[in-house]
Amino acid sequence: MRQLPDLTPDPADLDPVELADREVLAALQLERLRWSLQHSYDNVPHYRRAFDEVGASPEDCRALADLRHFPLTTKADLRENYPYGMFAVPHDQVRRLHASSGTTGRPTVVGYTADDVSMWADVVARSLRAAGVRPGWRVHIAYGYGLFTGGLGAHYGAERLGCTVIPVSGGMTERQVQLITDFEPDAILVTPSYMLALLDEFERQGLDPRDSSLKVGVFGAEPWTEDMRQEVEVRAGLHAVDIYGLSEVIGPGVASECVETKDGLHVWEDHFYPEVIDPETGDVLPDGEYGELVLTSLTKQAMPVVRYRTRDLTRLLPGTARSMRRIEKITGRSDDMIILRGVNLFPSQVEELLLRVEGLSPHYVLVLTRPRRLDELMVRVEARPEGADPDAGQRLCALVKHAIGVTVDCEVVPPGTLDRSQGKAQRVLDLR
Ligand code: DLL
Repeated sequence: MRQLPDLTPDPADLDPVELADREVLAALQLERLRWSLQHSYDNVPHYRRAFDEVGASPEDCRALADLRHFPLTTKADLRENYPYGMFAVPHDQVRRLHASSGTTGRPTVVGYTADDVSMWADVVARSLRAAGVRPGWRVHIAYGYGLFTGGLGAHYGAERLGCTVIPVSGGMTERQVQLITDFEPDAILVTPSYMLALLDEFERQGLDPRDSSLKVGVFGAEPWTEDMRQEVEVRAGLHAVDIYGLSEVIGPGVASECVETKDGLHVWEDHFYPEVIDPETGDVLPDGEYGELVLTSLTKQAMPVVRYRTRDLTRLLPGTARSMRRIEKITGRSDDMIILRGVNLFPSQVEELLLRVEGLSPHYVLVLTRPRRLDELMVRVEARPEGADPDAGQRLCALVKHAIGVTVDCEVVPPGTLDRSQGKAQRVLDLR
């Protein structure tokens, strides 16, 4: 693999809080947490009711650990208060709305004041700088623009950092490659699955993506594995860095990896307070233990969230390149977990394994059926353009059996057969 440039930022360019002592950070967090709880209680009937029900009063929050006495908030709570019931400011102070697509039922609507939009730009700028992006760079944004927070969130953050933004949005894959070739961006912001589609398109046009101007890719909005990072870094010749966020909390920019370590995502804890809970009992788990990530906004005005259950599974780890804690790369959402004959399995586990079989590409979908009374899972995966050995599928089945402990079928299909995502990939096709 070609040597990638060292893009470690100069510590003098960071927000001082990124390197703050833990005690200084904790004091700031507590002050902001108390404000946020009070703001939620005073202005959002849902929170007032929910706090009162368990007898939790914002004044009683005297230490960060007291947060655990406050009720958890779920997506169902947001749905029940559709569209504006969770807003904490009058409508004329709301400058922006976004919404999650919501595959079933109502979408979730989120609102931002001018200060919220500005804070969001700050945390995305911070994330991009951590990823190695520099002021003055050209940044190609291929996250979708619109109600989805990816495009506009990335856009404002890149502008805030001082970059030249190229607001391409998703889709029109051929044209994306043309624009990258002509405009020579230094960085690309896109979902990892769509990046793969772009790499295929480069190759289809007879271009070597490693010859492009791109030095950094900032990938998020869906789970992706270390093996996928390897794949993209080798094929594209760029630093592949992870960015995390969700619309309910702000959008992209809740947490980000640092290019110099690539060891999990630092949560920007001065704005978002993380906890990890046991998804069954709701109990707070100690740092280092796996569970569901729960986030509380500390500074958001229009739509504060208190202990929002993300459904994302990970664990909290101590800071490395920054003093703020990290979350381990997210392997999946509890909603994406497949229970196959009693064995839990995430699409990302299969992704990791199939990238280890020569000749298999990262384009795959898991097809669930119930032909008789039992669930069956078929991994449908494309061969690489060079072709795959006739036994590649069997080798994958054996790896899955060995690593996950469950029997699956595998169908290796010709390159280009599976639908390409232009945003978040749909990894599971449930035909049961
Ligand atoms: O996906 C925000 C975003 C846009 C993040 C662009 C990063 C880049 P939602 O559409 O509300 O918001 O979806 C949020 O996507 O709860 C995770 O399940 C998943 N997700 C987001 N980032 C990552 C990531 C945006 N880096 C949901 N790794 C979250 C794994 C991610 N999953």
